[in-house]
Amino acid sequence: MDKFIFSVPTTIFFGEGQARAFAEAVKSYGEKALIVFGGGSVKKNGIYDEITTALHAAGVKTVDHGGIEPNPRVESVRAGIDLVKKEGVDVIVPMGGGSTIDAAKLIAAGALTAADPWKIVIGEAKVTGALPICTVLTLAATGSEMDQGSVITNPETKEKLGWGSPKVLPKASLLNPAYTVSVNGYHTAAGTADIMSHTMENYFTVDDSAFVQDSMAEGVLRACIHAGPAALKDGGDLEARANLMWASSWAINGLLRKGKPQAWSVHPMEHELSAFYDITHGVGLAILTPRWLRHVLSAKTAPKIARFGRRVFDIKSEDDVDAANEAIEALYDFFVRMGIPMTLKEVGIGEEHLAEMAKACANHAGGVIRGFVDLHEEDILAIYKASL
Ligand code: NZQ
Ligand code: ZN
Repeated sequence: MDKFIFSVPTTIFFGEGQARAFAEAVKSYGEKALIVFGGGSVKKNGIYDEITTALHAAGVKTVDHGGIEPNPRVESVRAGIDLVKKEGVDVIVPMGGGSTIDAAKLIAAGALTAADPWKIVIGEAKVTGALPICTVLTLAATGSEMDQGSVITNPETKEKLGWGSPKVLPKASLLNPAYTVSVNGYHTAAGTADIMSHTMENYFTVDDSAFVQDSMAEGVLRACIHAGPAALKDGGDLEARANLMWASSWAINGLLRKGKPQAWSVHPMEHELSAFYDITHGVGLAILTPRWLRHVLSAKTAPKIARFGRRVFDIKSEDDVDAANEAIEALYDFFVRMGIPMTLKEVGIGEEHLAEMAKACANHAGGVIRGFVDLHEEDILAIYKASL
């Protein structure tokens, strides 16, 4: 196991009836909050009212910044930064899924520098500081509520890129599973696939001895396989919603990847799909992951894929290559059962930009994705083609 530092000081308020305690936590960071939200789901399902009422009761004034898009755009971030500067905001309170929280992170960092926020995303401007962020999670998926990452889209350059800083790690997050009951089946399935993908990106490595992390990852995956279909069958199943929500945070907050080689493979490939076609992130991941595993299956990788199959899907085959093949099929079938469209064509992606996306993906990864197995531009293109 490699050496590491693990520090995730986000205070989690989990479960129902915690809005008041959360509002007091927000108050400890300042008296004026920017409420960041998306296309309006929080207004329809009552979350906006519940949280702003609690904030006002705690003595926190609020300013609204709504309209954050899924795959959040840098223009919305710029508008948020202007509002923070104009209104003298002290603390940022995103209410929503990963898109809203990711936009809030760039607003928080961008408000404390004169540089354009896109320069922070591409690494041309430093994160000098950030306003404190307290999140209200409404969709179990990205883990943005308990990590340092943020993914922003620039439609002008057709780029969707991740950036991160310990300075934008949320100070507090309110995780009330009841807030996710209104998430529709499509986003419940996509969110489950995203949680599983984060876990698998951390899990699929060779030559390490991180048995603790890998066993925990298998537990998170089993929880998703149990809770995902249950939440799909009955959106109001709070036990399933609670397990997905907690899995979301632990899949990506660092615990599962510490002490291991870290390069991720499927996320960089998916980010090109959503940059070019604005598709739902978790759906893109579900389509690509089984094709990626099939592409990298070899005598070297078979034991790890077989272990995944045996421990996550209870596959019995003793031969590693057989078990690995069955594992990939089981994963594919699971996504089909979750109602996810499993080809690129079904989400409106044809052959026309595959080569351009493969090239952009390799470039953004510095030439080669150095993950479970090195992926060159031609490998990425082959995986895209196998996903059509
Ligand atoms: O915009 P509203 O009206 O809120 O509706 C949203 C949106 O349409 C809706 N929704 C959210 N909560 C709801 C709800 N609808 C009903 N009831 C609720 N309680 O769901 C739709 C999707 O929301 P979005 O925030 O886009 O989804 P998600 O949480 O999956 O976030 C996706 C974004 O996060 C990035 C992705 O690339 C993508 O841009 N990621 C961020 C990461 C991170 N910060 O660490 C890592 C991830 O790998 C990922 O890349
Ligand atoms: Zn993801």
